Amino acid sequence: MTQRQLFLGAYVLFPSGHFAGAWRHPYSAQDFLGPRLFQDIGRTLEDARFDLAFIPETVSHRPGFATHGLSNALKHDPAQLAAQIAAVTTHLGVGITLSTSFNSPYNLARTLASLDHLSGGRVAWNIIQSSGAANYANFPEVTELGRNELYDRGDEFVESVVALWDSWGEGALVADKETGLFADTAKIATPDYKGEYLAVQGPLNLPRSPQGHPVLIQAGDSPRGREFGARWGDVIFAIERTQADLRAKKDDLRDKARALGRDPEKIKLFAAVQPIIGETTAIAQARRDYLRTIITPEAGIEFFGLFSRLDLGDLAPDTPYAQVIEERATPEQAASRAIVALDELLGSRRGSATIAEAAIEFSTSELTPQIVGTGVEVAEQLAELFESGAADGFLVTPTHFPGSFDEFGRAVVPHLQRLGVFRTEYAGTTLRENLGI
Ligand SMILES: Cc1cc2nc3c(=O)[nH]c(=O)nc-3n(C[C@H](O)[C@H](O)[C@H](O)COP(=O)(O)O)c2cc1C
Repeated sequence: MTQRQLFLGAYVLFPSGHFAGAWRHPYSAQDFLGPRLFQDIGRTLEDARFDLAFIPETVSHRPGFATHGLSNALKHDPAQLAAQIAAVTTHLGVGITLSTSFNSPYNLARTLASLDHLSGGRVAWNIIQSSGAANYANFPEVTELGRNELYDRGDEFVESVVALWDSWGEGALVADKETGLFADTAKIATPDYKGEYLAVQGPLNLPRSPQGHPVLIQAGDSPRGREFGARWGDVIFAIERTQADLRAKKDDLRDKARALGRDPEKIKLFAAVQPIIGETTAIAQARRDYLRTIITPEAGIEFFGLFSRLDLGDLAPDTPYAQVIEERATPEQAASRAIVALDELLGSRRGSATIAEAAIEFSTSELTPQIVGTGVEVAEQLAELFESGAADGFLVTPTHFPGSFDEFGRAVVPHLQRLGVFRTEYAGTTLRENLGI
């Protein structure tokens, strides 16, 4: 029997992402407005046999994020970026994030169907339901729903999109020059979808795509979000700090999928990781320490402020971290994932750390686990995590671009292949074939 193989995805993030200083890294490219950088990243990922380039999305502006070049300070339209990457590659999958809150089912279904045709079946949709006043400010006609209702509406949204994708049946496109029949309308269904939250008539003006439907990705983490993921997700993204947390999340998703009548084997969990690679272990560790030095206290505090939901704007950087939490965090905030996990990460340093030091610690990877070492060591750690069954694949977040992906491809991938856990060639041409779903 052939050995189970892991999957690899890469976050296409700029000017920075989980590492808040990425754009200031001396090796980072600066041409994030033109196509070259993204085309280069696509080629690099395909040379390394990655399964997926993943493009996140947001539609809001935070002045503090813009000042410091933090994640989301710039955002291209994800579909346009995906088209650039797909145009210069032939096997790499391209995942884009689109919100069910700010798009209509028809436009979203067609954007993805178009991309799936034009890429030869390599597209995935990361399904998000948006929250937060800053996002909704740009869509005054949309009312923000509560968490659970957002997902109820999301269910309808995805149902309607799938119905639109399926509107053209097998053989509906005839294009027979002899007879003059272009499309057999008897084989084109009108979904006429009517839900509690939304309605769309259809049919779509495109046939089914080469892989049937684009691959569906989900990253919800609340109980309702996980249920949504277990219902729709072919791929689930997770950011968990420990192997045990990852395992627990995977088991929970599999249970939820079973309860919904789905085969849990069909759901692939990708765990986010931040590799920090060096020619020697000592160089890799020095690099990890170096990363902290290019995040300014102001940038770190701004970044941590968003995730902790604490108001930190007026603080002196040398205010003790423990004092800030004690004085400013509500019990609910103090129990939040951002603060609990950061406390764990700081460990014995918690008592002596300033708010700037703690915030910079948070901002090196936004709690994404850092995998530090030589290419061999990083490969061994990833293989071990994969073989434990806690993850089916990894989503690599860069510390600089495109260098992080180049280093991973050259220093880590050959060792994953030598360990027998990563293929040397793509299994097929569509993303579904490569993911085995
Ligand atoms: C790896 C990963 C990628 C994500 N990408 C995005 C994104 O691009 N845009 C976004 O608004 N939310 C993104 N999210 C947030 C999730 O969609 C989700 O809202 C979050 O995990 C909280 O779960 P909940 O909605 O069930 O509370 C991402 C989450 C993870 C773990």
